[in-house]
Amino acid sequence: MPSKIADIRLVASHPEVYEPCDDSFALVDALLSDRANLLKHQPSLCLEIGCGSGYVITSLALMLEQETNNGIHYFATDINPDAVAVTSETLKAHGVHAEVMNMDIASGLEDRLAGLVDVVVVNPPYVPTPEDEVGQGGIVASWAGGEDGRSVIDRILPVADKLLSEKGWLYMLTLAANKPLELCGLMRRKGYASKIIVQRSTEEESLHVIKFWRDPDSEVQIKKAAANRGNPTSVFSRFSLLSFSGNGNASSK
Ligand SMILES: C[S@@+](CC[C@H](N)C(=O)[O-])C[C@H]1O[C@@H](n2cnc3c(N)ncnc32)[C@H](O)[C@@H]1O
Repeated sequence: MPSKIADIRLVASHPEVYEPCDDSFALVDALLSDRANLLKHQPSLCLEIGCGSGYVITSLALMLEQETNNGIHYFATDINPDAVAVTSETLKAHGVHAEVMNMDIASGLEDRLAGLVDVVVVNPPYVPTPEDEVGQGGIVASWAGGEDGRSVIDRILPVADKLLSEKGWLYMLTLAANKPLELCGLMRRKGYASKIIVQRSTEEESLHVIKFWRDPDSEVQIKKAAANRGNPTSVFSRFSLLSFSGNGNASSK
């Protein structure tokens, strides 16, 4: 593990901002375990949704820029303005830069960045709670996930689909209670393959990091490609090749 990444310092904190915890560490460990692929992937634009203290986006920037130093552009959003301030401090203290913005999911970026983001990372509010806790500000927004912990997650997935580039990858932390396999199924219907790249049980929770990428053999992607080529018949000619699994066996993923 590159030493700088193990070493993210909490240079700023705020009682209303989520401090890095097992879930944050699992997400960064997942990115680290996939670092060789990420370097080969050569992302130009990376986005974290729900950046909290900035631990994850700072780690990502350090792990990529140590070797590539090639002007990757980073964005980070959070619905909590105090998190935006803390993330900005964390980035600055570690000599890396991101545009950090206070917004709901990526509402102010969807048009500007549609189809352009190569890597999206998310540690969402995933704890099952009463629905009326969702959308409250401050620290409650860090965990309050509504029914099955899915209220915010289910809003993030279509946004990620809109933002991701053709080669884009989404890394999302989930809890077993969020029904990760159901999430994979939802994304499969949007044309994504997926695999769980980290699975970790703590005393309190069972965490998964899922990686999603567009599956060129999925029905949705084949239809899109055919539409782009203006040749709908090719949709049918490739039906025999359809992969419904999203089984994550693709070697470069
Ligand atoms: C579990 S914390 C993760 C923080 C940080 N990424 C980490 O891993 O340590 C979830 C973060 O998502 C933010 N959040 C919750 N709902 C959001 C929304 N609708 N749009 C943007 N950010 C949101 C919270 O304010 C919180 O900072």
